[in-house]
Amino acid sequence: MILSGTTAVAGIMGWPIGHSRSPRLHGYWLREYGVDGVYLPLVASPEGIEAAFRGLPGLGFRGVNVTIPHKLSALAACDHVDDVAARIGAVNTIIIGEDGALSGTNTDAFGFLANLRQESDWRGVEGPAVVLGAGGAARAVCVALLDAGVPEVRIANRTDARAQALADEFGLTAFPWADRAAALDGAALVVNATSLGMTGQPTLDLPLDALPIDALVHDIVYAPLETELLAQARARGNPIVDGLGMLLHQARPGFEAWFGVSPDVTPALRNFVLES
Ligand code: ATR
Repeated sequence: MILSGTTAVAGIMGWPIGHSRSPRLHGYWLREYGVDGVYLPLVASPEGIEAAFRGLPGLGFRGVNVTIPHKLSALAACDHVDDVAARIGAVNTIIIGEDGALSGTNTDAFGFLANLRQESDWRGVEGPAVVLGAGGAARAVCVALLDAGVPEVRIANRTDARAQALADEFGLTAFPWADRAAALDGAALVVNATSLGMTGQPTLDLPLDALPIDALVHDIVYAPLETELLAQARARGNPIVDGLGMLLHQARPGFEAWFGVSPDVTPALRNFVLES
């Protein structure tokens, strides 16, 4: 990689950051599209994060992605926050204007929908969707589903009160965690937005008997690529979509804003990111 005095600079701020696949992902696109740009891993501790955000315009950054644990700090630090980020309650992408202002958005909802639209026939209007989980990822999924025009969003979470709070906020139907299998009755989509099924975590215990056979099953967990939930769904004949595509698609709006090219998510990119 040869840098110049005019190389466009972006990156990802997190703590820790060593696990992040984003530098590899953006690095692939920079090379693929021949962009004079660089995307850096930026380790930023919670104590220094506010000063770090404030320093970005002076250093000439085009913008940054923000990951754990800084997505809420980013929401507070931005000069402008768009409607999607405000509803999700977190900023994962910052775009720095020519005047040095920080504009925050959240591309997780976009990434979720773009992945499902690219990888399946699901378009949102087929019937109810069931979301498991009530953390930050589940909030992004719920906002995406509502914006896609899903007729009913059902939510269940281990801590029932969190599911009820999300249901009240967004106008969803809350199911007790103990009744999560019954929530699948008549659904067109089920999404695991918990951390269950991730390498090192317990598996998600979800009997699929009530789920229509043509319903799409999606897991936002991507390590492993095929979770127990997806394997179980595939075995009974349901269409499935894994979580890697959401990670790849959520990166597209930031790349386009910083580097001026709208990038594609391709099988070659998937393989490249998986090799890391
Ligand atoms: P994220 O921002 O990635 O969504 P999070 O806010 O920590 O992360 O949320 C993790 C989700 O996984 C939550 O819905 C959590 O349920 P609780 O709200 O009850 O904590 C869910 N989760 C984590 N471990 C779980 C487990 N062992 N059983 C059931 N749900 C679990």
